[in-house]
Amino acid sequence: METLKLDAIADYENSINVASEILNGGGIVAVPTETVYGLAASAYNDDAIKSIFAAKGRPQDNPLIVHISNLDMLSDIACDIPDVAYQCARAFWPGPFTMVLPKGDKIAESVSGGLKTVAVRFPSDKTICDIIEKSGLPLAAPSANTSGKPSPTTAAHVIDDLDGKINAVVIGGDCMVGVESTVVSLVGEKPRLLRPGAVTPEQLRAILPELIVDDAVLEKLKDGVAAASPGMKYKHYAPNTTAFLVEGCSNSFVSFVNSKENAAAICFEEEYYNVNVPKMSYGSKRDESTLAQNVFSCLRDIDSLNVKEVYIHAPSKDGVGLAVYNRLIRACGFEVIKL
Ligand code: TXA
Ligand code: MG
Repeated sequence: METLKLDAIADYENSINVASEILNGGGIVAVPTETVYGLAASAYNDDAIKSIFAAKGRPQDNPLIVHISNLDMLSDIACDIPDVAYQCARAFWPGPFTMVLPKGDKIAESVSGGLKTVAVRFPSDKTICDIIEKSGLPLAAPSANTSGKPSPTTAAHVIDDLDGKINAVVIGGDCMVGVESTVVSLVGEKPRLLRPGAVTPEQLRAILPELIVDDAVLEKLKDGVAAASPGMKYKHYAPNTTAFLVEGCSNSFVSFVNSKENAAAICFEEEYYNVNVPKMSYGSKRDESTLAQNVFSCLRDIDSLNVKEVYIHAPSKDGVGLAVYNRLIRACGFEVIKL
């Protein structure tokens, strides 16, 4: 199939209109959001949702997030909505925050991969919200990458992965946040953080003091344990180059990587000039938001350096750093080297 390229920077109105028509006709369209690009389809159209899974090569049991553009839509998506969900909505929406709630019966079966729950997000990005408004549809949208690859933060990333496999891509700017939304489940006895993102545990605890951080956020799931969030059990974000996460101070990181052959480094800007192997900086170690913005681009670009191994300097787990660390341990298949 030919993938239509809709340039939302040059011709915004037309891009929104054409994307909305395609979605209403049961097509699938990649769209920018503030976190990462998403691959969208009508949350009411089971066949369209199935084409998302096919285009990404995504396992059928890994459910999708439904995107809305105003709070009134929430009752079309979820049912038995607790008060605390509205408190979270007031605090964190629109924005990079997703809640898991009991699923409403209008939502297509395959959105939730057989679960009785549904994940919902009200993004802050204008483009996706205008497409939801114009089409009149809640949009189910996973990240717009081939399953297993780093999430796309630019339209070029989407085109690299999905050109010829989807109906259209809305070309907007680069994503501001850079890592996917924070996912919190509100269906268990206590609220549970399933995936860290730009809304941090500290911010969440102001509304959800009993918040539990799921084990899978920082650890590999043990065999036989059911994942609270199916997405957490799959290998994810990995470059083809074998990647290792390295914890330690700048001096020890620099001497460690400089002793390696046929290797590259993803490091902090503070140590960049001292690293003597092929290298990329993903930002200052003191600025977790910038690390989040750049981490997926670096993981995508590393294969072009044609080395056997890449050593990635681990960020702090503070604030948004927890989200960056969570993506990196998956990219490294949980191989952490402590110096
Ligand atoms: O920022 C984001 O969330 C981006 C943009 C496009 O909105 N979307 C995104 O979607 O990251 P995806 O499909 O790549 O990740 C969705 C995550 C997966 O880990 C999935 O397992 C989890 O949310 N999830 C979805 N529905 C769920 C449910 N009902 N229960 C538990 N986890 C769920
Ligand atoms: Mg994804």
